[in-house]
Amino acid sequence: MAHILIVDDEKNIRAHLATYVRTLGHETMAAADATAALAALAASNFDVVLSDVRMPGMDGLALLREIRRRQPDAVVVLMTAYATVPQAVEAIHAGAYDYLVKPFSLDQVELLLRRVFELRELRRENRVLRAAVDQPVLLESANPAMQRALATARQVADSDVTVLLSGESGTGKNVLARALHAWSRRAPGPFVTVACTTLTESLLESELFGHVKGAFTGAWKDKPGRLETAQGGTVFLDEIGDLPGELQSKLLRFLEEHRFERVGSSETVHVDARIIAATNRDLEADVRAGRFREDLFFRINVVAIALPPLRQRTEDLPALIDHLLTSMCARHQRGTLQLGDAARHALLAYAWPGNVRELVNTLERAVVLARGAQIETDDLPDRLYAPASEAPAAAIATLSLEELERRHIEQALAESETLEEAAARLGINPTTLWRKRKRYGIE
Ligand SMILES: Nc1ncnc2c1ncn2[C@@H]1O[C@H](COP(=O)(O)OP(=O)(O)OP(=O)(O)O)[C@@H](O)[C@H]1O
Ligand SMILES: [Mg+2]
Repeated sequence: MAHILIVDDEKNIRAHLATYVRTLGHETMAAADATAALAALAASNFDVVLSDVRMPGMDGLALLREIRRRQPDAVVVLMTAYATVPQAVEAIHAGAYDYLVKPFSLDQVELLLRRVFELRELRRENRVLRAAVDQPVLLESANPAMQRALATARQVADSDVTVLLSGESGTGKNVLARALHAWSRRAPGPFVTVACTTLTESLLESELFGHVKGAFTGAWKDKPGRLETAQGGTVFLDEIGDLPGELQSKLLRFLEEHRFERVGSSETVHVDARIIAATNRDLEADVRAGRFREDLFFRINVVAIALPPLRQRTEDLPALIDHLLTSMCARHQRGTLQLGDAARHALLAYAWPGNVRELVNTLERAVVLARGAQIETDDLPDRLYAPASEAPAAAIATLSLEELERRHIEQALAESETLEEAAARLGINPTTLWRKRKRYGIE
């Protein structure tokens, strides 16, 4: 039995579909628009979301993206009229599992759900397999800046001080946050990640601090926030620079007093949790621009650890490559693949703008593509051989960092078939790319 959320602004469709899906033995809930759907998602987990595309307010596509961000495991199926089929195709690119063209028969729904459950079973097996063959990360370095970062991390791990990790995307901030937790006396406790990026402030507030029944439409039961579930452990606030203003104040109070109230409640909750925050933006610039509270910045910036980009620690490349290659071969059951001389040379010469993430992706791709017992240059992406950059350095130097990023993203999008491909190329995850694309207004 699965938990299925039906989202459609037409009452008849909602009712029919819900009745039918229940006769198949599943539990359903219905929402008349995307806002109600997100509230339902915040209050409980769903395995499958069946959503209309065209709805007043937030449409099905925007809803899809938000669900992908918040509950990547939920399978989303869009229901669309003929007129919006092109949008449905776009939705597949954005991570929808499939779409149903209206009017559809109930048999189609049953068939589709059956396929969804097969997929879920496969994914589950995959995860188990992956966890079994995953190698520990490599937390040693021959580079002075990285050595300093790692030494500081080990030194402060056991105290409860707040740590702010900074560094370009893909440099290993999530990895180091987990390591800090593992090295601390809180290791037996939970490690809870909160992505501070979200479409609406109120949903993030309830995700962080929890809510009580009736606090808002869709809050049909009390729900503890992520902070509460981290009792005795560590909370990792990822992309803290994206935290909306109101919540910055509420978080500041939590950092100072270790207490807060759930949304809709006046009862104070005490939580003992260590805070680690991360950002790939220049938070000090955000403070200067008034986008980020200065007092909060000082409160989280007690110990700052900056992770150097991979291109500035090239002495670590050989060890990282060997380490990642071994774990990729195990993951894909490829025995021990060797790295051809030319391929190794190309990997060592490349600048890795997407940092360790790009290296991970590149090696995984190579391991999957390699035909013989050796990885050859053919198994590496073309961009490794492209001339560095055509724009003269002087022209680049006059661009702001944001402008540079915008142009880089535009180019990657123009040269890629899908959003996923562009994201891999940039070394960031697709949701981050989607968000940046929105922020910069790139079509
Ligand atoms: N020291 C390491 N050893 C092995 N793998 C690593 C190491 N550092 C990073 N990685 C891998 O690189 C990828 C990116 O790392 P991570 O998610 O920690 O980056 P990030 O700095 O948090 O990036 P973002 O800002 O985009 O969130 C992950 O797949 C991670 O496993
Ligand atoms: Mg991260």
